Amino acid sequence: MASANLNIMIRAARKAGRSLVKDFREVENLQVSVKGAGDFVSRADREAERIIKEELRNARPNYGWIGEETGEEDGEDPTRRWIVDPLDGTTNFLHGLPHWAVSIALEHKGEIVASVVFDAAKDELFTAEKGDGAFLNDRRIRVSGRRQMIESIFATGVPFAGRGPLPATLRDLGRLMPLTAGVRRWGAASLDLAYVAAGRYEGYWERGIKSWDVAAGVLLVKEAGGRVDSIHPGQSPVESGSIVAANPQLFDELAGIVRQRD
Ligand code: IPD
Repeated sequence: MASANLNIMIRAARKAGRSLVKDFREVENLQVSVKGAGDFVSRADREAERIIKEELRNARPNYGWIGEETGEEDGEDPTRRWIVDPLDGTTNFLHGLPHWAVSIALEHKGEIVASVVFDAAKDELFTAEKGDGAFLNDRRIRVSGRRQMIESIFATGVPFAGRGPLPATLRDLGRLMPLTAGVRRWGAASLDLAYVAAGRYEGYWERGIKSWDVAAGVLLVKEAGGRVDSIHPGQSPVESGSIVAANPQLFDELAGIVRQRD
């Protein structure tokens, strides 16, 4: 049974998701004016964060907060904070691609203890709590059982708009593409991790990523039986800005490849 905190997170994610779905339907009408669409999506994003913050703050006024749009705020309780991306996959949303999500994580003493990733366009709700498994719409999920790289699909994110670690990413791709059944770049890190948890991808890695993009997904993968780490050993996969996740059979091989120096 979901804890009170998880229920609060689910309620907030669904409410923000409803608002985003309504705005998503409008985006197509705005495509004519690229500038207009960009401004509209920023407003939709900020409104979703406002809804989530209001819901979470009303229910737990003393928890801290970090959100993509509104930044960091300390709470009276220094041990707990929400880590929120109201709209992960913003570029997909802007282009009318139905692959984006609301991502909410609860951190306690530096560890993620509850997660919600809600793909409102497909009505897929991924949830996890520490020690209680991972779920997709109330059905238990497990990472994939595949053992061979050549049969496996991996997701990643690649730098865009001139930002991010392009040479390292191209090196990773050059090493992995010949060894695998395919590499996907779907544009929403929270869903990449949720899909690893659901056994849809065997693994995922990305460089130059933010805590709010991955915090919730990290727990989904762990609770679904997978492994997650920073690409830089000894650092936090949530905070270090680089992440590698996979089923236990393929984790060492994937991590070994993306950790290789020249
Ligand atoms: C982005 C997505 C994308 C990843 C980028 C993120 P945003 O998040 O998760 O998949 O490759 O690094 O910035 O900006 O859409 O919330």
